[in-house]
Amino acid sequence: MSKVTDRLNIHLADWNLLYTKLHHYHWYVTGPNFLALHAKFEELYDYAGTSLDEVAERILALGGKPISTLKQYLDQTMLTEAGKEKTAEDMLESVIKDFRTVVDSLKETGEMADEAGDSVTTDMLNGHIEELQKQIWMLTATAKGLPVKA
Ligand SMILES: [Fe+2]
Repeated sequence: MSKVTDRLNIHLADWNLLYTKLHHYHWYVTGPNFLALHAKFEELYDYAGTSLDEVAERILALGGKPISTLKQYLDQTMLTEAGKEKTAEDMLESVIKDFRTVVDSLKETGEMADEAGDSVTTDMLNGHIEELQKQIWMLTATAKGLPVKA
């Protein structure tokens, strides 16, 4: 079981990274789609906030210890912090890429939990996968509607 809680700590780190990164995009996005994207990034950091707590409490329910410092999150996340993205398109691209990375990694953990007989954890992770896949579709549709960079 410890393998599953170790993997859950990586998801916890990723959700924390996304929580901060999506705030950055919420504050710094500019352009004609500001209002829509400002609101969308808020919706997404709220989802990250809910999910990180869900994952941490699942780790505790399994008898594990959720990591809980920013340093630990930065050490364990598979994602990178906001940085060079300046345009709305760059930000959308980065979120879509991160969400795809997280979906792949959640699927692997779900399989691992299934093998360990822990279908409750798999159910939780499948819920996150379902939501992220929906958001990937919406963000991709939005990105196509934005002016294309030269
Ligand atoms: Fe705000």
